[in-house]
Amino acid sequence: MYRLLKTCGRAKRGEFHTPHGVIQTPVFMNVGTAAAIKGALSTEDLERVKCQVELSNTYHLHLRPGDEVVKKLGGLHKFMVWDKPILTDSGGFQVFSLTTLRKITEEGVYFNSHIDGRKIFMGPEESMRIQSNLASTIAMAFDECIGIPAERPYVENSVARTTRWLERCKKEMARLNSLEDTINKKQMLFGINQGATYADIRIEHAKRISEMDLDGYAIGGLAVGETHAEMYHIIEEVVPYLPQNKPTYLMGVGTPENILEAVERGVDFFDCVLPARNGRHAHVYTNQGKLNLLNAKYELDDTPIDPTCQCPTCQRYTKAYIRHLFKAKEMLAMRLCVMHNLYFFNTMMEEIRQALDEERFPAYKKAKLEGFAQNGK
Ligand code: GUN
Ligand code: ZN
Repeated sequence: MYRLLKTCGRAKRGEFHTPHGVIQTPVFMNVGTAAAIKGALSTEDLERVKCQVELSNTYHLHLRPGDEVVKKLGGLHKFMVWDKPILTDSGGFQVFSLTTLRKITEEGVYFNSHIDGRKIFMGPEESMRIQSNLASTIAMAFDECIGIPAERPYVENSVARTTRWLERCKKEMARLNSLEDTINKKQMLFGINQGATYADIRIEHAKRISEMDLDGYAIGGLAVGETHAEMYHIIEEVVPYLPQNKPTYLMGVGTPENILEAVERGVDFFDCVLPARNGRHAHVYTNQGKLNLLNAKYELDDTPIDPTCQCPTCQRYTKAYIRHLFKAKEMLAMRLCVMHNLYFFNTMMEEIRQALDEERFPAYKKAKLEGFAQNGK
């Protein structure tokens, strides 16, 4: 159940009540694709960096260790030892981005595993069954994420099929939630808007899925090749047709700048691999822009990444030390940077929520963007 606490223009400040606790929005979900945050973070670390929601992938966990294994072990929460909300992506994106030799039919998608090449089929029912076995808090609908640019006739057909898949997802999820041996009988389902850069197709689709009374709505198929301006434009076009009293989730986005722009346009859930990926490459976020800790100028820098940051890394370690760890190829280097970056994103979301609560989001956003511009992106 979503409670809209406050609005500022189109920006939403909300509370999403789930069987695994309340999510304060806007929120950034921390990506742990295969039930682990890359960079050797534990679920204790996730708590220390103020993570509210962990995100895992249906596709990866289905291949390894297998969703049946996770179910036998009591579900993903018990398996990972994480009792807060978990969102699982449906596989609809990974199947299209990671696999080769795909064949899309009305039933679903045939593809080869990126691990051992074995032939696999996944359709809406399979995706729901896997996510039900994983017992995540929120399951995502099985969709086709269309690359941009895409021809209009292809997009029309694909979106119509994604709508039919959504109807099948809803039906299958209701059935699974009613079964005796289902671990999370209150699993929630989010629908996903598609339509590439065609605003009219997106709007028609948004209207259609909004009538289906799902637990939340995502905007998918963005950050896949279009410009930032195009992405913001699509969000502006679509958000008015999604229910304001449900969470709005922009999938796979993005940079701190993208997040601020999307919050302003009414988005309240985000996820992205960027903070973890950048951290593994010594790129760290600060309020004055990104730093590259491999830079020679940090060799003798005995200050933290950000002296104002309260994260576990900045409380204790210097740039010079972390730079040395990267040069020496010590795993600790990545862990310290990923922790700082996730803390940075989660803290920015906390600041956004506070700015919305105190009705000063526009000024907050402006100051934040000016700060980021100091060191380039
Ligand atoms: N992650 C980023 N974009 C998408 C999308 O369009 N669909 C799904 N399922 N996941 C995504
Ligand atoms: Zn820090």
